[in-house]
Amino acid sequence: MKTTRVTTTDKPVDTFETDLLVFLATQKKDKKAPLCDKSVMDQVKKAFDLGDFKGEEGEQLFYYPPVSGKKTQANTKRILVLGLGKIESEADMSVVYDTLREVGGHLALACEKISAKEIVICLPLLDILGSEKTAECIAEGVLLGDYRFTKYKEVTRKKTDYSGLISIKFACFDSVKSVRQGVKRGSIAARSACEARDMAHEPGNGWTSADFAGYAKELAKTHGLNFRCIEKKEMEKLGMGGILAVNQGSAIPPRMVILEYQPEKKSQTLLLVGKGVTFDSGGISLKPSTGMEEMKYDMCGGAAVLAVMQAVGEEKPALGVVAIIPATDNMPGGTAVRPGDIIRHYNKVTAEIVNTDAEGRMILADALAYGIETYKPDGVVDVATLTGAVIIGLGHHCSGLVSNNDTLARCLEEAGKQAGEPLWRLPLNKHYKKQIESKVADIKNVGGKAGGSITAAAYLSNFVGKTPWAHLDIAGTAWDFTEKAYIPKGPSGICVRTFLTLIRNWKIGKLK
Ligand code: BES
Ligand code: MN
Ligand code: ZN
Repeated sequence: MKTTRVTTTDKPVDTFETDLLVFLATQKKDKKAPLCDKSVMDQVKKAFDLGDFKGEEGEQLFYYPPVSGKKTQANTKRILVLGLGKIESEADMSVVYDTLREVGGHLALACEKISAKEIVICLPLLDILGSEKTAECIAEGVLLGDYRFTKYKEVTRKKTDYSGLISIKFACFDSVKSVRQGVKRGSIAARSACEARDMAHEPGNGWTSADFAGYAKELAKTHGLNFRCIEKKEMEKLGMGGILAVNQGSAIPPRMVILEYQPEKKSQTLLLVGKGVTFDSGGISLKPSTGMEEMKYDMCGGAAVLAVMQAVGEEKPALGVVAIIPATDNMPGGTAVRPGDIIRHYNKVTAEIVNTDAEGRMILADALAYGIETYKPDGVVDVATLTGAVIIGLGHHCSGLVSNNDTLARCLEEAGKQAGEPLWRLPLNKHYKKQIESKVADIKNVGGKAGGSITAAAYLSNFVGKTPWAHLDIAGTAWDFTEKAYIPKGPSGICVRTFLTLIRNWKIGKLK
């Protein structure tokens, strides 16, 4: 992935030679001119009086400073005043965060139009947020919006094609220190999410279980994390019958990839488990061919937990974090698991495989049971593109949440809200659990059409014991997520920033 140089300065803006100098303007009530930096006020006022610019969210006013013009505008090729809309003091703060990210996204789109490579953003002073948070959200939005995946464009890629921003400079009028801090936080979050998008973009032949392991190993080396990879032989010894069964019809061996971060001072531990099905054909219960290519995205849960470990490695939080990715593809080879087969999971629970396409829960089950036994976490969150049913229920605007712990559920809901990745909680009780009772084994891997997302979670609940646990179903949000200026079409990188927010917000001792 390309890395954009991101810097901060408190030098006056007239010193910069740049492709684009950006100012942000807030829309005012009572038909007043938008509020913005005084160096562009004349132009903004003029445009406002002409009815051309109100400062609405994403609205743009471009102009080209005359060569012999004011000193403040002489060195830049172009000036853009970008509307922030009305920033209302009574608004929910998380709404303001997302507005700023969206505006950052609009900015990235504007840069693409004019092929701007180097830009300077003059940060606004927003009293209700403070300069650190303002800088964080805008930086996050620009970097997320500037994302593109062109790795496999070879013959059709032109030298002149725009390849995104090379340098972003944030200019500010008050504390550089807090702006720098904000920009850093925003950049770390955005870059991690973009890493997850890169992994997701890779096709089934470009990202296998070995790639998950290789990537994790590199991260471990860079940031001093513990890396472990459980290979097929060891899985057999450990009795991980779920992931082994899913892998049975595949030519590529399965891997259980583990990354562990522990802070110097002993603390609580959060376990993150992400579904890493690198391609889901459905197995013997083969999926219809239309749209099957999208099932390369079935590893987005694994991508999210691996990508967030990059941010964890950089930020070194006070909370211990362990990521586990059970990784395999789901293929219908001659040795594949059959409908009707009975398997035994790591914790000895047996399952009747009614549908080989319900494979996500089978690999997560072993990972959850093993992870909880081995790392004794204070909380565990799994994330998976688990069911088509969650798309029917919640569409593409919320990820599904199921939890056995109200505190953990609330913390996740709050983190998701702050990150602009909303979660919606679904119930889980004995009636749903009853739907997956089997006549021949302890449980079965499907519970019928009704409440499909919840019965999938019910399956997982057999592997977490009393540990505070939450399950996120991102089948509707991992790609085709809500249209936003900072979320491109294709994989969204969902949950990376939610997890990072959860970790940043974590108060040690919170769940106990
Ligand atoms: N990976 C799919 C779920 C999925 C479907 C994700 C569509 C994104 C878009 C999962 O492995 C699956 O096939 N689930 C089945 C479960 C069923 C057989 C009980 C489903 O949802 O149809
Ligand atoms: Mn499936
Ligand atoms: Zn799947």
